[in-house]
Amino acid sequence: MNDTTGGERPRIVMTGAGKRYDALQVFCDIDLDVGEREVLAIIGPSGCGKTTLLRCIDGLLALSAGEIRIEGERMVAPREGVAMVFQHFGLFPWKTVFQNVAYGLKLAGCPKAEISARVPKYINLVGLAGFEGYYPYQISGGMQQRCGLARALSVEPRVLLMDEPFGAVDAQTREILQFELLRIWEMRPTTMVFVTHSIDEAVLMGDRVMVLQGRPSRVHEIIAVDLPRPRDRATLAMPRFAALRERVWGALMDDARRAEFEVKR
Ligand SMILES: Nc1ncnc2c1ncn2[C@@H]1O[C@H](COP(=O)(O)OP(=O)(O)O)[C@@H](O)[C@H]1O
Ligand SMILES: [Mg+2]
Repeated sequence: MNDTTGGERPRIVMTGAGKRYDALQVFCDIDLDVGEREVLAIIGPSGCGKTTLLRCIDGLLALSAGEIRIEGERMVAPREGVAMVFQHFGLFPWKTVFQNVAYGLKLAGCPKAEISARVPKYINLVGLAGFEGYYPYQISGGMQQRCGLARALSVEPRVLLMDEPFGAVDAQTREILQFELLRIWEMRPTTMVFVTHSIDEAVLMGDRVMVLQGRPSRVHEIIAVDLPRPRDRATLAMPRFAALRERVWGALMDDARRAEFEVKR
């Protein structure tokens, strides 16, 4: 299950990765490589540890077992080249759209002139031109997430980590953002780990879908998504899309009984 990264060098290598919070073993025994231009979708029921795993990949949280390396370097703290888009946007309410996007670059130590050039470029890319001076409360959820996306993209990351990025926006906005993200990714393909609990989204985005299952969670199945890129709305109508969707559904349903015991958060 480790060798389907399309012959590219792996950019992320997880080896025996496990995490526990005191008595709670969240996940264990995760062995997986993610390729340089690969999108790995991670799916699993709520509470299975998707956010925790993403934070471990980012170096925000320490593993309890095993290791995660990015470009050969062990992740023990957040670092340059790795960016995260959060489920609840993660914007500063007291900063404008422009300032929120600029913040990531400032943290990355980007010179002022470079910041002034890059911020409008990425605000444009995500379709927020004209809203530079707005505060988060003045724009919709979808626009807030566009802002979060612009902030992550502006540092031109080699690894993009996304935690249910469209989970908090309405269904139509979600579809629009999915296709925009696909379009943006095509322009500059990079390593992406995309966490979701939507089967359609996992299949639409991923080159592979990793299904987490069990308590503690383990890799239950890795499903290769052999749909052509670029992907767009027409992808959703492909018989192959429907077949893959069923496959992921089946893998998740193996775990359906456990959903009854889902830990309330
Ligand atoms: N900081 C924490 N301390 C203790 N338990 C936590 C903490 N964060 C998450 N958990 C628990 O770990 C499990 C996995 O959580 P999480 O990674 O948020 O799952 P997911 O993102 O898949 O919904 C849940 O049971 C949750 O209650
Ligand atoms: Mg989560």
